[in-house]
Amino acid sequence: MNNFRYHAYTDVRFGKGQVECLPELLAPYGKRVLMVYGGGSIRKNGLYDKVKELLADFNVFELGGVEPNPKITSVRDGASICKKENIDVVLAVGGGSTIDAAKVIAGGAYYDGDSWDLVVDSSKIGKVLPIVTVLTLAATGSEMNKNAVISNMETNEKLGTGCHDFIPQASVCDPEYLYTLPANQTAAGTADIMSHIFEQYFQKETRAFISDRFAESLLKACIKYCPIALKEPDNYEARANLMWASTQALNSLISSGKGGAWTCHPIEHELSAYYDITHGVGLAIVTPRWMRYILSDETVGKFCEYGRNVWNITEEDAYVCANKAIDATEQFFKDCGIPMTLSEIGIDASKIDIMAEDTIKYNDLAHAYVALNKEDVANILRECL
Ligand code: NZQ
Ligand code: ZN
Repeated sequence: MNNFRYHAYTDVRFGKGQVECLPELLAPYGKRVLMVYGGGSIRKNGLYDKVKELLADFNVFELGGVEPNPKITSVRDGASICKKENIDVVLAVGGGSTIDAAKVIAGGAYYDGDSWDLVVDSSKIGKVLPIVTVLTLAATGSEMNKNAVISNMETNEKLGTGCHDFIPQASVCDPEYLYTLPANQTAAGTADIMSHIFEQYFQKETRAFISDRFAESLLKACIKYCPIALKEPDNYEARANLMWASTQALNSLISSGKGGAWTCHPIEHELSAYYDITHGVGLAIVTPRWMRYILSDETVGKFCEYGRNVWNITEEDAYVCANKAIDATEQFFKDCGIPMTLSEIGIDASKIDIMAEDTIKYNDLAHAYVALNKEDVANILRECL
């Protein structure tokens, strides 16, 4: 097992009615709050009014309209408000896009130059305003991690950045706020959670037994509860288990003792950078093709372990077992209603070469579970058409 740091930092308030804790969670940082939110879902489900009511004693400034695949233009707007209004704490109310934007806004508040610099080069992030979140979508784990992913559509770049101080101080996770999620976001969010788990589970380090068993239990939770949430959007047990799976899948719990570069996320980020697609949909399309592409004598044992422990596949032959596990993964995404080819979401072959080139340019795929070059990435993307 590799060395690791495990610092459970975020004060998570999980469950029904936990939003009532917001005043208590914000108070230590001051009264001047920048509330960041998306395109309107929180107005429709009543969360906006609830937060405003709870924060009646605070001085609340607002930045609404943060886009899915949040754009640097919104981040710049938020950073300017922080500087102009002397903001004490940034409150994100929404999904991963809103939370990610809030993180870079919190860094931009103390940065003299353009906030995009902090995305391109995380070493430029200095002081960061405290961040508190109210999560409304189970997917990214941004509510308890140090990452932020921001897009610049002028340059077709979608890049990840992060630092320790981007980890939220506190996050309210009330599964009831997931009831209004449309089916496609529920399914895409689950695909994202599963992809986070795959990226950490399929790694060269094989001796992190505990991390891998945790990972398998989180995958089983997704497989069990996503179909239930799709059928019964207000099933509390299903929403609660998906929400907790999203948080635990990317807060360093299952990467402890493991390591190495990711693969499907870098490829998906290029699809989003060029076509602005839903992150989890891109991941669901790429993942089974990547799995088949890298299946070999070196990897078949791990894929079979995944098949046995997650899908209860009992085939003796390792390749049969591994292939069945990959097929089950693809079928699961299909059954959740996710479009499973690039052509279904309007993407053709015309930009595959440039997307493959950018995947390699911005990421260290030489140190992934199976090292990939530009040609490999282009081949995987062609399989997705
Ligand atoms: O904008 P609003 O109106 O709020 O609507 C959103 C948005 O249209 C809607 N939504 C959210 N909660 C809802 C809801 N609709 C009804 N009821 C609710 N309760 O869902 C849509 C998608 O929201 P978004 O925040 O974009 O989704 P998600 O949480 O999947 O975040 C995706 C972004 O996170 C990045 C992705 O690349 C993408 O940019 N990621 C961030 C990571 C991180 N910080 O660790 C890791 C991930 O791998 C990922 O890259
Ligand atoms: Zn993701």
